Amino acid sequence: MVHITINGKVVKAAEGEMLLTVLKREGIDIPALCHHEAIEPTGNCRLCMVEISRAEWEGWKKHVTSCLYPVEDGLIVNTHTPEVIEIRKTIIDLQLANCPDSDVIQKMAEEYGIYKTSYETVPEGDNCIMCYACTRICEVLGKSAISAVMRGHKKVIAPPFGEEPPDCIGCLACAQICPTNVIPWTDTDSTRTIWKKTFDLITCTSCGKAVITKDFAEYLMAQRQIPKEYFETCDECKRMATARKMGEIVTKAQEAAL
Ligand code: FES
Repeated sequence: MVHITINGKVVKAAEGEMLLTVLKREGIDIPALCHHEAIEPTGNCRLCMVEISRAEWEGWKKHVTSCLYPVEDGLIVNTHTPEVIEIRKTIIDLQLANCPDSDVIQKMAEEYGIYKTSYETVPEGDNCIMCYACTRICEVLGKSAISAVMRGHKKVIAPPFGEEPPDCIGCLACAQICPTNVIPWTDTDSTRTIWKKTFDLITCTSCGKAVITKDFAEYLMAQRQIPKEYFETCDECKRMATARKMGEIVTKAQEAAL
């Protein structure tokens, strides 16, 4: 256990715990677009920058990305100094130039008083902040179906050769983790399309609603030993079936008590 000082308040933290985790636990509002518990931090968006120092540094201080900084005893952290706010505003301003149509970035920019970027907007931008959360979660799943291609401002996340990614299983992890919601996908009653690849969907045997792609179900059966029957009903129907069973048990118990 270590003690650190955040904005003047001494708090406890586990040694080696990432500073951003402690800040969030303390309820401190820090923008952190590329951070997600399911993936290792990489510090790509730079938004979680804070100021750190130590008593023995005699006034010296530096700025670090809190998602990548492990806490240590005696650390002094300031999250909203004028310098930190200025750095954050510059990053948000740049992100706004990069993602002019992103609701998430626009909202964040407005919170920092930025209504129009002071930089030149990226032509034909796709509103991706290149945080790599999508490629990292795909890697965690052992698929690596998508990656960054091209260079400079032309760099985009895409499947190999821009074609249907052979390793994609249509799980939607990439689309769901994307902080700016820019990975498009569509579902029909029986199919899902993402990254130009179309998957067959397993539908709920009770209500007919789409449950999961067949490829993702096969992956989960093989990797997590989840039985095939699990994918035959949707979560809502599973919940209703459980509630029905509970009701029957209660009714039987009441009848037995009479
Ligand atoms: S959340 Fe730390 S750099 Fe993005």
